[in-house]
Amino acid sequence: MGYPISHSRSPVIHRLFALQTHESIQYELLQVSPENLETAVRQFQRTGGKGLNITVPHKAEVTKLVDQMSERAATAGAVNTLAFRDGQIYGDNTDGIGLLRDLAVNLGISIEGASILILGAGGATRGIVGPLLEMQPKSLRIANRSLGKAQALADRFSDAGPVSACRFNMVPVTEPYDLIINATSAGVKGEAPPYPSAAISEQTICYDLSYGLSPTPFSVWARESGAAKSVMGWGMLVEQAAESFKIWRGIRPDTLPVLKQMSINA
Ligand code: ATR
Repeated sequence: MGYPISHSRSPVIHRLFALQTHESIQYELLQVSPENLETAVRQFQRTGGKGLNITVPHKAEVTKLVDQMSERAATAGAVNTLAFRDGQIYGDNTDGIGLLRDLAVNLGISIEGASILILGAGGATRGIVGPLLEMQPKSLRIANRSLGKAQALADRFSDAGPVSACRFNMVPVTEPYDLIINATSAGVKGEAPPYPSAAISEQTICYDLSYGLSPTPFSVWARESGAAKSVMGWGMLVEQAAESFKIWRGIRPDTLPVLKQMSINA
């Protein structure tokens, strides 16, 4: 469920998972406007639905509908996966673990000891800050257009690790960052704000949580600024889907063949 939803590639991913694991599933896109979210979720449950993915813009709002929530979803204040069991609604968030698995397993990037810059402080950032801090980076800075949102997130996670906030256009650079993650919705909206070029060196890995069939504005900027690597979020998409699939079916699909099959690993 999302709004809009037609761009979603999740049905293809889950169809490939189902084929691979010999599970019988039906996974469809449901476009649901914010005012209809609760009705749609309850109706889905009533008519025998087993699980849902919840995406933009509903991830925070749907937390109000769950009976039980995982710790990571509660920390993020956002849910992307619902499971319906014994008349109860269970909520989880697989975005953070999806990103970590793509970084660590698929791309071989170590977070421990790394200096990380996250651009943006919306829902996408909220889902990944906790899991990233658990991997013990050297530092994690959140840069956002409106400082208040970044500061609020930094305050919320201050007990979990070395996290700080700054304005989007005032990123302090003492040395280039090891990893820059774009979690803004700028590219999706066709905007390309001036990203902080001084934050990049030839050792910096740039990861865009958004993805497209052609390079995103952030990934183009990263390449042009001489980043070591510029990656779009297809891997995270497939990994978070695999974690959701596991919650619903008890079996974790092998993600690499699916990532390859989609032939989109830019
Ligand atoms: P949410 O995820 O909370 O629904 P969003 O509107 O999708 O929010 O925006 C996600 C993030 O992208 C926000 O951090 C937003 O910055 P603001 O909090 O200052 O609005 C950021 N963002 C969107 N467009 C941007 C742009 N053109 N330049 C920089 N940041 C941008």
